[in-house]
Amino acid sequence: MEAVYDEIGTDYAAARHADPRIARAIREALGDATSVLNVGAGSGSYEPEDLDVTAVDPSEEMIRQRPRAAAPCIKGWAEDLPFEDGSFDAALAVLTVHHWSDRARGLREMRRVARKRVVLFTWDPASVDTFWMVVEYLPEVAALDVPRFPTMADLAAILPGVRVKRVPVPRDCEDGFFGAFWARPEAYLDPRVRRGISVFRQLPAAVIERAIERLDADLRSGAWDERHPGLRDAAELDLGYRIVDAELRDEVIGRHA
Ligand SMILES: C[S@@+](CC[C@H](N)C(=O)[O-])C[C@H]1O[C@@H](n2cnc3c(N)ncnc32)[C@H](O)[C@@H]1O
Repeated sequence: MEAVYDEIGTDYAAARHADPRIARAIREALGDATSVLNVGAGSGSYEPEDLDVTAVDPSEEMIRQRPRAAAPCIKGWAEDLPFEDGSFDAALAVLTVHHWSDRARGLREMRRVARKRVVLFTWDPASVDTFWMVVEYLPEVAALDVPRFPTMADLAAILPGVRVKRVPVPRDCEDGFFGAFWARPEAYLDPRVRRGISVFRQLPAAVIERAIERLDADLRSGAWDERHPGLRDAAELDLGYRIVDAELRDEVIGRHA
């Protein structure tokens, strides 16, 4: 099977780096784990340096962009993890589950290879109406993202006992994901920023061009600022990004179920 990110992942590492505040929240969720499998690891953001990390990703292009000192990365798919049951204390997946062809199978695989917990950093599709970019300029994102991101109920069905933690996006977020520039709208005009964000590479170019032209015009005329007074100065915004963690106890979740 061809890895989609071999095509849409070029230039990823130039636009995407771990944000230290989100990294701290992910590290906290990993708790007392000492060994971690990072699934859909890409260029290696959010891999804690104090833990024994193994990475897995299907895209050679993404693996190529990992820093020299990053954890070893094996080419593989979430849906068929090449590890024995219970090989790691924790399995981690950061902004990747929505790209998997069989999300339920991949999540069951994470549960299978983890002894203690599964930790996800993902986005709750119930929050689709919270971001001005989607509501005012690019409603096509809703049609792309809502079906492909698991709901919190979908996750709870596979990972019983999940805890969901809100992760508001800081106004100066250092990881250039889709919601990162909510307080810096001019950033979306930059093609280099858009190249690091999958929706801008997966929606038709004409749709993106139309949306960006409208945003550009609204920024020049002041219409965007009129519609969003004070937004540029807000400290953080909840756009639906969530850390989901599930403690695995064999009496609760049969590892082989
Ligand atoms: C948005 S990137 C996230 C990369 C990294 N976790 C990060 O936070 O920067 C999505 C990653 O998911 C990977 N991916 C896509 N389909 C996958 C699958 N079925 N199993 C595992 N990883 C997959 C892609 O190759 C890509 O590296």
